[in-house]
Amino acid sequence: MSQNGKRTWAEPFKIKMVELLKVTTPEERRKAMSDAGYNTFLLRSEDVYIDLLTDSGTNAMSDNQWAGMMLGDEAYAGSRNFYNLEANIRKFYGYRHIIPTHQGRGAEHLISKILIKPGDTVPGNMYFTTTRLHQELAGGSFVDVIIDEAHDSEFIHPFKGNVDLAKLAAVIERVGADKIPYISVAATVNMAGGQPISMENLRAVRTLCKTHGIRVILDATRAIENAYYIQLREPGYANVSIADILKEMCSYTDGATMSGKKDLMVNIGGFLALNEDDVYDEARNLVVVYEGLDTYGGLAGRDMEAMARGIEEAVQESHIRARIGQVDYVGEKLIALGIPIVQPIGGHAVFLDAAKFLPHLKQDQFPAQTLAAELYLESGIRSMERGIVSAGRNKLTGDHYYPKLELVRLTFPRRVYTQAHCDVLVEAVQETFERRAEIKGLKMVYEPKYLRFFQARFEPLG
Ligand code: F0G
Repeated sequence: MSQNGKRTWAEPFKIKMVELLKVTTPEERRKAMSDAGYNTFLLRSEDVYIDLLTDSGTNAMSDNQWAGMMLGDEAYAGSRNFYNLEANIRKFYGYRHIIPTHQGRGAEHLISKILIKPGDTVPGNMYFTTTRLHQELAGGSFVDVIIDEAHDSEFIHPFKGNVDLAKLAAVIERVGADKIPYISVAATVNMAGGQPISMENLRAVRTLCKTHGIRVILDATRAIENAYYIQLREPGYANVSIADILKEMCSYTDGATMSGKKDLMVNIGGFLALNEDDVYDEARNLVVVYEGLDTYGGLAGRDMEAMARGIEEAVQESHIRARIGQVDYVGEKLIALGIPIVQPIGGHAVFLDAAKFLPHLKQDQFPAQTLAAELYLESGIRSMERGIVSAGRNKLTGDHYYPKLELVRLTFPRRVYTQAHCDVLVEAVQETFERRAEIKGLKMVYEPKYLRFFQARFEPLG
């Protein structure tokens, strides 16, 4: 069922500047894919028609954000744009202390280094690639405490990003609260298919952690999209504004890491937000080592201004309704065609279930990697693997992690593509689905040590 009425999600903007797209021939695409080692990350952007690789840094900024870019105060220290950003993060997210970072993983690096000691455990509602890696590099181990339903691509649950409180309690019991510096809570959960966490669950996580003296750190990357789902699905929130929901969510946490490249519609930028003075003092000191002075954190003044303005636009009800409405539009069409996707449809992307799409491939023949390559060959549309390649290897055993979800993510940049592009996408997925029986898998021929999905290379099997 559609979450939005038929036309209610029409874009609350008009287009002022356009970027021309290039359409390639099947022959050109075969060559490009082969040159890219069957990894969509290694394609050149100019060989891509509709780019659904990610919603990260690929958004269209508004005229107001671009105007802000011209007001960049590029002072080394104390830029006016930093204070504008700080004021808006305090106003809309509610945290006391702000440290800008070049993007989300810059913030993950700082918080992991400050709070995690070797031998610590960090529970979380499903891993995210960079988040978990920074926890591991700091000497910690990640433990997944998301509800079981999140690992089932077709299970309908309004808040599939919820933490399983019994799992969390069991981890605390097993390793002891003093070995858990914080729980890492993502809203929405990217790897589960853009699934939200409920306010009730977040509140319960807060209560449980408080009794054990454990911090809650929010991955706020797509928290505004999460707020929309709370408004839509959680009793008692239908008449609460997105801005108020966001602030309440943050109030149950001690700090947040943020990739501004998603919700906040900028091309670069992130931040670490904190409430505790002593943690902030350390972060403020450490950021100088890795990112830059604490009033720019690796960003130009103009980028901080664009992000400050992006916050105000991102919490607008008309914006968020259109943003998620577009994703929903594609998802509903694919469901109607009988194409296996993660349900409920997520906030930032439609996730094809590659295990069900290509049931004849074993997981170590990389079904999702294969499907992403085939969709490109079919149409020039670029998507991303979110399966066994992204999951990486267990650092102790050296074996692949075998995630239950083997997905291809069709990720929607905010305010970039039109409804006609969405229709082209649906047709391309349908055509790929019709010839699925002929599709063969891949073998990995080059594997980087960290975050292998970015640069790994493959060759076709058979
Ligand atoms: N947390 C989540 C939930 C993310 O989705 C990302 C990035 C990050 C943290 C890291 O932020 O890229 O600014 O350093 N996700 C991108 C994606 C890369 O395509 O989903 P970053």
